[in-house]
Amino acid sequence: MLIGEQTPLSQARDITVTFPGPSRGVMGRREKLTALNRVTMHVNRGDSLAIVGESGSGKSTLVRALLGLQRVDSGEVTYDGRRVTGRGRERWLRSRTGIVFQDPYSSFSPRLTIGESVAEPLEALEIDCDRSGRVTEVLSLLGLPADAASRYPSAFSGGQRQRIAIARGLIHRPDLLIGDEPVSALDVLVRQSILRQLATLRRELGLTMINVTHDLSIVPDIADHVLVLQAGKVVETGTVEAIFGNPQDPYTQSLIRAIPRLEER
Ligand SMILES: Nc1ncnc2c1ncn2[C@@H]1O[C@H](COP(=O)(O)OP(=O)(O)O)[C@@H](O)[C@H]1O
Ligand SMILES: [Mg+2]
Repeated sequence: MLIGEQTPLSQARDITVTFPGPSRGVMGRREKLTALNRVTMHVNRGDSLAIVGESGSGKSTLVRALLGLQRVDSGEVTYDGRRVTGRGRERWLRSRTGIVFQDPYSSFSPRLTIGESVAEPLEALEIDCDRSGRVTEVLSLLGLPADAASRYPSAFSGGQRQRIAIARGLIHRPDLLIGDEPVSALDVLVRQSILRQLATLRRELGLTMINVTHDLSIVPDIADHVLVLQAGKVVETGTVEAIFGNPQDPYTQSLIRAIPRLEER
């Protein structure tokens, strides 16, 4: 590495991930499905990366590999320069990363109060602190009412639940927040307000962010860098300005052309 070059916070070097495929080939052997094909990417501290591509292109598999939730067949994943093994979720990595999934309805146990659900990472990581104080703090950071902690998920709308999911992703004060389609299940107005909130949180907390999305229209609101995946391969990567202003790959060009224009929405 060159002097003065920073260590990326999250990095994948030439990673390949395969799964047993659905069909049986010659000799009755299962053919492999290559979900990620020699992917190399990184995100620097403080940056916000959008991972885009069609359904099935490998976006979720990539973020799972970055989080150590998915073993790689070959290549290497590192976090802050340290090797991620992918053999079970390592605690040191979990303590430094948070994740928000797409579905605000299946994210919470209906039998736990919001306070209990949001505090779960503190419990799992055995973080010694004033837990209810932390819960109150992080819920208010997300603009939720003061009494939210004592209520149950059924009392909240999809948008509010997604704010609660973000609160849970942040409660242990990670330096990287990963969203896997974090606003895809929400309607347009709620989506806009949550995207604005994520941008504010990023600024205020100095977060590094990776967000997966199949919807390119939200990318400028959420990211400064873009990685385009197609069938498990990186086809293009660059700044938002470069990718939107001058996309080089035909696949990227087609994704951008497919964005509904404002006047058509
Ligand atoms: N656990 C798994 N077992 C088998 N195949 C999988 C598994 N996870 C993902 N895949 C396959 O890997 C490919 C990439 O999936 P995924 O990363 O979920 O794509 P995306 O998030 O872009 O929609 C798809 O063909 C999917 O069917
Ligand atoms: Mg996915």
